[in-house]
Amino acid sequence: MNKLHIVSNRLPFSIVTQQDQISLKPSVGGLATGMKSVYKDFEGRWIGWPGVATEDFSASDFEKIDTMLQKEGCETVPLSSYEVETFYEGFCNRTIWPLFHYFNQYVDYSPEFWESYVKVNQKFADKTIEVIDDGDYVWVHDYQLMLVPGMIKKKRPDIIIGFFLHIPFPSYEVFRFLPWRNEILEGLLGADLVGFHTYDYERHFLSSVRRLFGYEISFNRIHIEERIVLADAFPMGIDYDKFHNAALQTISKTLREKSQLHQELEKVFFVSPERKLILSIDRLDYSKGIPHRLRAFEKFLEKYPEYRTKATLVMLAVPSRNSVPQYQQLKREVEELVGRINGLYGSVNYSPVWYFYRSLPFENLVELYSMSDVALLTPVRDGMNLVAKEYVASRINQTGVMIISEMTGVVKEMAEAIVINPNNEDEVAEAIKQALEMPVDEQRARMAVIQNRLKRYDVFKWAEQFVASLKRIAQIQRDFISK
Ligand code: ADP
Ligand code: G6P
Repeated sequence: MNKLHIVSNRLPFSIVTQQDQISLKPSVGGLATGMKSVYKDFEGRWIGWPGVATEDFSASDFEKIDTMLQKEGCETVPLSSYEVETFYEGFCNRTIWPLFHYFNQYVDYSPEFWESYVKVNQKFADKTIEVIDDGDYVWVHDYQLMLVPGMIKKKRPDIIIGFFLHIPFPSYEVFRFLPWRNEILEGLLGADLVGFHTYDYERHFLSSVRRLFGYEISFNRIHIEERIVLADAFPMGIDYDKFHNAALQTISKTLREKSQLHQELEKVFFVSPERKLILSIDRLDYSKGIPHRLRAFEKFLEKYPEYRTKATLVMLAVPSRNSVPQYQQLKREVEELVGRINGLYGSVNYSPVWYFYRSLPFENLVELYSMSDVALLTPVRDGMNLVAKEYVASRINQTGVMIISEMTGVVKEMAEAIVINPNNEDEVAEAIKQALEMPVDEQRARMAVIQNRLKRYDVFKWAEQFVASLKRIAQIQRDFISK
């Protein structure tokens, strides 16, 4: 059987060091959490960066890290601290991430970042070429590695390559700002199949290809001399059963023993039994609209004083990209807003916002999903938003209300949720009220439809369909060449 190798910047495991002990913990973020459920089925390797700079460890410790990851099916691409600064924090997260999320004011077009991006992408491509055998497939992931498909294709034109973008592909009017837009497209077009979460992102990509290169495009096939590249939409799913079964277990376990988190949360209900929990979970990222959410919640409490002791926003934010200035600025802004709201509306018995700045183990995450009456997710841009799907999968008795931003990929699969524009704080405040007051029958009717949809198209189906398309395109490619 031909193997399929995954290539991504972030591996499914990150390194933690505690009292000189090195261990692995699961990585956070949609790519890592989603792909982790499926990669063992491919019988290939997962090639990626271990998430730390080489200089931060001795050679022997680095070897240890490498061995630990090898055992998990991973091959490491080590990065120096200069590469972390200029490639990862630089071109990936100060150029592409803000540009593709329409934060033009944050974009840094430093040529030094670009040069580093080219070099590091070449490192990933070389490592992949080292690992592949004839007839294997390669599946490259995300915006950190957009040159890799072209680099592999140049040396190994026989290898069939898939690429999946986990973030939005912006409209041509935004993409064109990038000084290296042609190089990025050329890199992506080295793949045989380019996948996106939504049809809109696919359309933006095709439009950029048409305008910049003038290639003939029929439907979603791009004709490039002797090759065809297929672009398609594959909305990523989650491991639905894993969340659903864990939520079932959480409920039965809670009857026997209560976790520390559960006991803490119960204190919230203690003062007023009819108190409602509103939940939000994200990486602390400016694309997630966290300040928008807080301001809307403040507006809600201001407008509806009867809820001042009855609704608590539990906001879980996982630290992310701490060395990038905009993330540090966002952290300060969020802390200030939380402080202001709690100062204004809090009392000895009531904290309007419970803010946790940390990553939580899977069981606690599911516990939070199960205990919350409302999920409030307000990204100003988000490729997909898997948290929304995880919340739905964890709702065992089908109650609970989802408030979701229209700027996410996931909204296309959640028409039954309350859909909001995060920039309209009055609308979000009203949505919170509507969610808290929604009759149980209506909650169940809406939730049941979304659950059925997400259950049918889970992450396994998603991967299966992508790989099936990759195999189909391999055949098309062969037929095309032999004509
Ligand atoms: P992104 O990929 O931009 O981070 P997604 O919502 O698609 O956004 O995916 C985030 C993933 O990270 C989800 O699988 C979610 O469960 C996980 N996650 C987010 N915040 C936390 C946290 N504080 N602790 C543990 N896991 C988290
Ligand atoms: C998003 C990106 C992923 C990335 C994740 C976490 O989901 O699409 O590629 O891995 O965020 O970000 P990080 O910078 O920690 O890898």
